[in-house]
Formats: sequence, C-alpha cells, structure tokens
Amino acid sequence: MKGVILDSIRDLVVDKFGEERWKEVLRRADLPVTTVFPVTGNVPDETVLKIIGSICDVFNLTSKEVAEAFGEYWVTVYMPKVYKPYYRGINTARDFLLKMDEIHRKVTENISDAHPPRFDYKWKDRNTLIMKYKSQRGLIDIFIGLINGVGKFYETPLDVNKISDNEVEITFLE
Ligand code: HEM
Repeated sequence: MKGVILDSIRDLVVDKFGEERWKEVLRRADLPVTTVFPVTGNVPDETVLKIIGSICDVFNLTSKEVAEAFGEYWVTVYMPKVYKPYYRGINTARDFLLKMDEIHRKVTENISDAHPPRFDYKWKDRNTLIMKYKSQRGLIDIFIGLINGVGKFYETPLDVNKISDNEVEITFLE
C-alpha cells in the first residue's frame, strides 16, 4: 500500500497522543523508531496491518475503532490538506462518495504502482445507496470507517451497514 496511508496514521497518532506514543507503536510493530514512510513509496500491506495491530495493543482499541478513527482523520483532516483539489466542487456526502471510484482510478494515473480499491454503485431507493468495494485487500472495516468520515466531513447523518464482505448499504438520513 502507498506510504501515504501510514503517513496519515502517523499524523493521527502524533496529533492525538504525541510523538512518544507513535514510537511505542513502531517499537511494538518491530520497526525502528526512526522509520519514515515516503508518501508515494510502497509499503508492504503486512506492515500496514502490523501497525494497525500495534495501535490496537498500545491504545487498547478494537480494529473497528481504529478503522473509524482512521476514516475520520483521513477524510476530514489529512486529505483536505494533501489532496485538496479532489474536494473542489463537491458539496455533498452523496456526491463525494459517488466520485470515489473515479478519484481512486485517477490515483492510479497520478501515483505509479498504486493499486487502489474501485467501487460500484446501485441506488436501492432515493436515500439508500449500495456501494460495492472491489479490492484484494479485504479492508471492509476501513472502507466503512472512511464512509463515516465522509458523513462527518459534510455534516450529513448517515448509517452504514455491512451486507457482505464487499458490500455496504448507506442510508442518508436527511
Ligand atoms: C479525496 C479522497 C481520497 C483519496 C485521494 C484517496 C486515495 C487513496 C490512496 C492513494 C490509497 C492507497 C492506494 C494504494 O496504496 O494502492 C487509498 C486507499 C484506500 N481508499 Fe481511498 N482515498 C480517498 C477517500 C476514500 C474514501 C472516502 C473511501 C471510502 C469510501 C476510500 C477507500 C479506500 C480504501 C478502503 C483504501 C485501502 C486500500 C484497499 O482497500 O485496497 N478512500 N485511497
């Protein structure tokens, strides 16, 4: 996975808990405390999962709780800073989510050797969107955390229900 994911996780831990706790996370993941993840470089998926596991241990959180915290931080803090142009002209949570397939396709064009997830969409009714997550990585909880992050960014109440390992149902509550 691209280093940008771990750079964001690092920022999240440092912002909320400080540099020392981040070092503890790295140590517990058997990595040198001086490790820096280059944003466009590749990091083995196992390392990303190991760091998430280490955060669960250090802060006594479940992987779902870490996925929610990461999703919120990525969409509401980190991305608006690093990839601001992607937000331009998109004013609702619905439109942002509907743009995600195209945005992840573009990421492949802009960052070499990226393998981002892709998405399919199907409206069940006016307020219910079925979103299919297409990735070999199987990170459905992170996918759900990110969708909740989109709801928070646009201050739009929404419910996300997992209907299978690669599909969720999103209900927009307004
Ligand atoms: C402007 C907003 C966003 C940008 C620019 C962006 C970009 C990226 C990038 C660069 C990666 C790493 C890809 C790789 O290493 O091959 C990634 C991973 C991922 N993105 Fe996004 N992302 C955004 C928002 C979202 C949102 C809102 C969702 C969910 C609806 C999402 C779902 C995911 C997931 C689940 C992954 C983990 C990799 C996987 O499952 O295969 N992203 N994204």
